[in-house]
Amino acid sequence: MTVRKRSMALLLALALVFAMMPMCAAAEQGQKLVAITFDDGPGPYTDGLLDELAQRGVVVTFFMQGHNASRYPDVVKKAYESGHQIASHTYDHLQLTKLGDKGIQNQLSVNASILDQAIGTNLSYMLRPPYGSVNSRVLAVVNTPVILWSVDTRDWESRNADAVYRHIVNDTKDGAIVLLHDIHPTSIPGALRGIDALRDQGYELVTVSELLRRRGYEAVPGQKYYSAPGKTTLPGVSRPAILPVETEEGWSVTLSADTGATIYYTTDGTAPTSQSAVYTGPFSLSGGETVKAFAALSLNGGRSQVAEKTLEAPRAKPPVITLQDGLVVITAEGEIHYTLDGTTPTVHSEQYAGPVPLPVSTMICAIAVQSGYRNSHVSSLLHSDLGNLFVDIRPTDWYYRDVDTIVSQGLMTTQGQAFCPNRALTRRELVTVLYRIAGQPEPQSQVSMPDVSLDDPAYTALSWAVEQQILTGFTDGSICPDRTVTREQLAVILFRLQQEAPEGQLPQQTLQGFTDWETVQGYAQDAMGWMVSGGLLHGVSDTLLAPGGTVTRAQLASIVLRAQALSQQPQ
Ligand code: NI
Repeated sequence: MTVRKRSMALLLALALVFAMMPMCAAAEQGQKLVAITFDDGPGPYTDGLLDELAQRGVVVTFFMQGHNASRYPDVVKKAYESGHQIASHTYDHLQLTKLGDKGIQNQLSVNASILDQAIGTNLSYMLRPPYGSVNSRVLAVVNTPVILWSVDTRDWESRNADAVYRHIVNDTKDGAIVLLHDIHPTSIPGALRGIDALRDQGYELVTVSELLRRRGYEAVPGQKYYSAPGKTTLPGVSRPAILPVETEEGWSVTLSADTGATIYYTTDGTAPTSQSAVYTGPFSLSGGETVKAFAALSLNGGRSQVAEKTLEAPRAKPPVITLQDGLVVITAEGEIHYTLDGTTPTVHSEQYAGPVPLPVSTMICAIAVQSGYRNSHVSSLLHSDLGNLFVDIRPTDWYYRDVDTIVSQGLMTTQGQAFCPNRALTRRELVTVLYRIAGQPEPQSQVSMPDVSLDDPAYTALSWAVEQQILTGFTDGSICPDRTVTREQLAVILFRLQQEAPEGQLPQQTLQGFTDWETVQGYAQDAMGWMVSGGLLHGVSDTLLAPGGTVTRAQLASIVLRAQALSQQPQ
């Protein structure tokens, strides 16, 4: 009795748990699969059916007869491009078992060429034999998978939409292949109601080829398939991801999809088709376009849903800021708004109406505002504390004082008003700075620099550096002035420039505080130790020295000023 009571209590508890579980169709999506199929068409109702299916985002399989397909070639093509699977129901519905081998092949090949012509390419078509009538001889001859069904709606017999609906809802099990005919007007509404009901029950509607693939069945020619039940379900074809990244000119768009899938896309807002561009790599757009894309494992019934993304409008070009007769002149397409207090301008900021004075220690920031465009990026011009002009330095930058100082000293220069603080330092730039620090002495001798031309503005500086053995050529004698300088190369060059050998230092110990100290190359260890212990070079973090890392122009400005400060310290 007790046992019985207990199990009753358990049952009640379980019932309660189930009752409390929310009905969650999404969780079941992709687990229960069904393939809806339509035979004998296309017919006068097929086009309308395609529109209804498109509205639902549902794909099915059409087993078409050639003699009907030849009357509705546009419908065949529309069904194919909508992602449905096109398959064969022979040319004119003869019972294949009653035909000779030649006759069977003829029924298939004539139909295939009619479908191919409508679609515009050569495809292979799965077969549903008329009346489901096959024997071993037919199977041996057809050379394509033979698709039968597990749910017969008998729609041709009842000609009653309610009856069709009831068959679909009552007879469908997971993995089912449902037989319908799109040549009967009553079949269409019955099928659509059935489809809606199945989706509400958590069924995912797939083509026959996807049903077989996702259930791990190989579609073998000459083999019969009635349904595809199974415990495991492979994922469907995912719709592609559309990933725009903003660039100077607009957008760079990357598309990605499942491994093995091909991506077809458009950028003009039209629906992508099998004829659309095939994605091979990122492409550029100016902005405002709509990208649409689908992924396909097979174009015939193995397509994803269409993904879509509209890119934001292009940006207006940033204003150009120049100084004329001591006043700031700003030009741009559209309206210009600006600030003088270092804040980011908006449409509510002061509107530019004519030249503006720019006192020392003031920065002007401006944007262009143009209809049909997003506001431009900010252009700025800084009149620095020391009287320099910079378009790419802001008072809040950590290197502002150092850059301002080094430019005032004439050791580093701007191009126009651009200092390019974050650009990697080249050997030419480094040597030019060192040469200026040394007071620009005339080189004493001719040195060999095969890859530096005489009219290179840095020729004298480079020859001086080579003569002084501050800069050494590579094994083939080349100087490579445009090569960027690594942190350890910078250390070695500055170390060589240091006339007196440092004494009493333990460079190795200094370096060993960093976890990557062993990656410092042998020739650079003394120099790196000297730089780090002297406070000229800091780690890129508390634990990392990054000897192979690049040096930016702003970092050089900072290092040179630190070295100056050190040498001016009383000994
Ligand atoms: Ni038929």
